[in-house]
Amino acid sequence: MAKHSNSFTCTACGQTHGKWIGKCEGCGAWNTLIEEAPLSSGPKALGSKGRSIHLTDLATQAEAPPRASSGIDELDRVLGGGLVPASAILVGGDPGIGKSTLLLQAAASFANHGVKCLYISGEEAAAQVQMRAQRLGLTQSPVALGAETNLRDILTTLDAERPGLAIIDSIQTMWLDTVDSAPGSVSQVRAACHELVTFAKRRGVAIILVGHVTKDGQIAGPRVVEHMVDTVLYFEGERGHQFRILRAVKNRFGPADEIGVFEMTGAGLSQVLNPSALFLSERGQASPGSAVFAGIEGTRPVLTEIQALVAPSPLGTPRRTVVGLDSGRLSTIIAVLEARCGIPFAGLDVFLNVAGGMRVTEPAADLAVAAAILSAREDVAIPPETVLFGEISLSGALRPVGQTENRLKEAAKLGFSQAIAPKGSKLGQVEGMQVREMPDLTAFVGEMFGAG
Ligand code: TYD
Ligand code: MG
Repeated sequence: MAKHSNSFTCTACGQTHGKWIGKCEGCGAWNTLIEEAPLSSGPKALGSKGRSIHLTDLATQAEAPPRASSGIDELDRVLGGGLVPASAILVGGDPGIGKSTLLLQAAASFANHGVKCLYISGEEAAAQVQMRAQRLGLTQSPVALGAETNLRDILTTLDAERPGLAIIDSIQTMWLDTVDSAPGSVSQVRAACHELVTFAKRRGVAIILVGHVTKDGQIAGPRVVEHMVDTVLYFEGERGHQFRILRAVKNRFGPADEIGVFEMTGAGLSQVLNPSALFLSERGQASPGSAVFAGIEGTRPVLTEIQALVAPSPLGTPRRTVVGLDSGRLSTIIAVLEARCGIPFAGLDVFLNVAGGMRVTEPAADLAVAAAILSAREDVAIPPETVLFGEISLSGALRPVGQTENRLKEAAKLGFSQAIAPKGSKLGQVEGMQVREMPDLTAFVGEMFGAG
């Protein structure tokens, strides 16, 4: 490739191409290539001699780094037990979901717990951030605030200040004068992220980056940003709901899939220490179409209500509308109910909703989803003291899932007395819980809704 000619980078996988083509050769995605100037700070010719690197063995003398607590339990949990020094964390989420609010509160809380904290806003003026701080009652916290987008200036400041934690809101607004493209472009985001992560490691400063999410649910800019950082957290929730969930999707220092639950109030986010009680709190009388799923999020059991509505469809192709669950999963469960249990859904619209703005990703939710749909279709309520869990296989069999005892304990704690679980689950004795084991979906349908 000529030295100064632009290259074309796939925004989905980051592969570069010499010319524009419709379909990326790396990942097969269509129309994802954008033109970019080459990195001016990129590697020079690799043929020249490098120096040999220092090698050691696997034994370590260093102790596990002390983690800094934020004083916000839900945040510490998602980080895997507190903030690891010199780590790089990406917090992604839709615009307006509350990332800046969460991180300003986190900054204040870290600062109050003795971590020197810098908050750099590239999106808002200092006055705007100060107004938010006032609204959140954080004006007395010793956080150093800066409004800047030039990364060279930011890094110089960080180098002089040497804080324990720097928050960069957001990575899409940052720009490097060595890269010849607009802020927010793939090469700027990638280069800025690279500079910040390298700085974090070299200078021992923990860095939290805010990243916006595009319409299709990815952090804007290439996936490589996610690869570069140690921890990726997503801040999710339905706009209309007050609940927000901070979910670890990648964590080099702790379990992934851990969640922290928050509630957006007039005075910022407040943590929810007992999410099960909260997700079920809006639950009234037992009604058809509602089933309670005893799930596990990360290391913690969380009970959620799954709601379904089944109604005759005026459309040729009936609707399958899902909120809070993978729509492919719903289609599979409906197909299994049709094929293995002989329950037709042709001509029926199916709407499914996970209450409280929660997102359920566990396959263990299958049985509760099937129960909610069947209960709505048959207009028969599931007994209110019942929780369900179990994975449905394509044959219609129910497969045992992990952490049964934790699920049952949480359900018992919240006043449930009966659980429906797959046959062969490793069941411990949980006081006050009666467990009914089902081998397959047909047995379940027969038991709960008559012959089906
Ligand atoms: P924000 O943190 O600016 O979102 P993001 O940085 O992810 O774009 O949050 C914006 C929303 O949060 C806004 O719609 C108002 C709401 N909000 C509250 O409900 N209570 C509050 O105390 C604050 C500060 C914001
Ligand atoms: Mg913001």
